Amino acid sequence: MTNQKTITTSEKLINTKLMDGNITANVKEAAKILQSKGLVAFPTETVYGLGGDALDENAAAKIYTAKGRPSDNPLIVHIADTKDVYELATEVPEKATMLMEAFWPGPLTIILPKKTIVPDGTTGGLNTVAIRMPSHPVALSLIRESGLYIAAPSANTSGRPSPTLAKHVMEDMNGRIEMILDGGAVGIGIESTIVDLTGDVPVILRPGFITKSMLEKIVGEVTIDPALIEPDPNLRPKAPGMKYTHYAPKGELTIVESDAFENSGITFTQGHEKANNSVTTEESIDNIVTKINELVDEKVNAGFQVAVITTSENANRFNCENILVAGNRAQGETIAAKLYQVLRQCDELDVDYIFSEAFNDGELGGAIMNRLLKAAGHRVIKV
Ligand code: TXA
Ligand code: MG
Repeated sequence: MTNQKTITTSEKLINTKLMDGNITANVKEAAKILQSKGLVAFPTETVYGLGGDALDENAAAKIYTAKGRPSDNPLIVHIADTKDVYELATEVPEKATMLMEAFWPGPLTIILPKKTIVPDGTTGGLNTVAIRMPSHPVALSLIRESGLYIAAPSANTSGRPSPTLAKHVMEDMNGRIEMILDGGAVGIGIESTIVDLTGDVPVILRPGFITKSMLEKIVGEVTIDPALIEPDPNLRPKAPGMKYTHYAPKGELTIVESDAFENSGITFTQGHEKANNSVTTEESIDNIVTKINELVDEKVNAGFQVAVITTSENANRFNCENILVAGNRAQGETIAAKLYQVLRQCDELDVDYIFSEAFNDGELGGAIMNRLLKAAGHRVIKV
């Protein structure tokens, strides 16, 4: 697919090309754009990234402008070879090497002290740098072809759900960037796990597909940034991006959650990595469905447009016009893959209220709920 879109409205000045990322010539053209300090969106295995030359202040500045992103929120530098880490970081501790070997290329970002070649414009003024080697073949070939380190935040307008399809990038970035490489639907669907390796014990700053126990198998003790566990206004998350409201659809989203899990007596307050492979009980799911149906009736009777976010197991149990299925409960990775798409659909449907089941089962549930809770502004009803 090669599709060129011309922008006509006055505020949209750039002609954003939507190109097939699997075609070598397109990747070459994209690499040239990056070399001349332009911006290209490209697929990674997690979400689409909005790429620019990581060592160029001006390219970084363009990324912030295109996203409408606060400039204190640093960018992740994408590399295509583990040895590039030594060009960007002053110190690479053994635990970093172990994690790189175990999970790269893949959905893990590591924070290390930065070398001076990494400009403040890329790291939001921090003396550390976030580095990741993605596994998506289009991302890797773009990095290699350009010969650059590529700074790439998720390719969404700041505050919107990260893009999991090229179409989502087009919605947000058309007219603002030079090119989008279309690699189809991404595999994972939520952003990489971020681990701070500047101290003795690695700290998770953002949960993701690589879970705490996966990390612990490689390096022993790993902690979670306390600011992620309970939303406490006095705790400042170490990843600046985690303090911002994110992913929120225009309609008011409420999560309906139950405390009852099998294999676990743990009470879920915020659905983080306390999950320990527990599974929501059948009875809890029945209670969640009943409550959502009550809430839907109430809003529909008051004349509002309503949507329900659910899983394939429960999709036919709701009396609602707009049922959005985010994967299936039995496989958490299918929920991660669909979550952002479903949140964007809420905006397309232009609904006033959205009710979602909680998805805190298993370890990946922690990462999924981290995003869903942000989207809901932590609006949760317990049954
Ligand atoms: O999966 C991903 O990581 C995607 C794809 C495109 O690679 N990228 C991504 O980037 O999610 P972005 O910019 O949307 O999120 C980066 C997060 C932000 O929360 C930011 O605050 C944090 O990483 N971050 C970046 N550099 C940091 C640093 N030096 N210290 C702490 N947090 C940092
Ligand atoms: Mg982002």
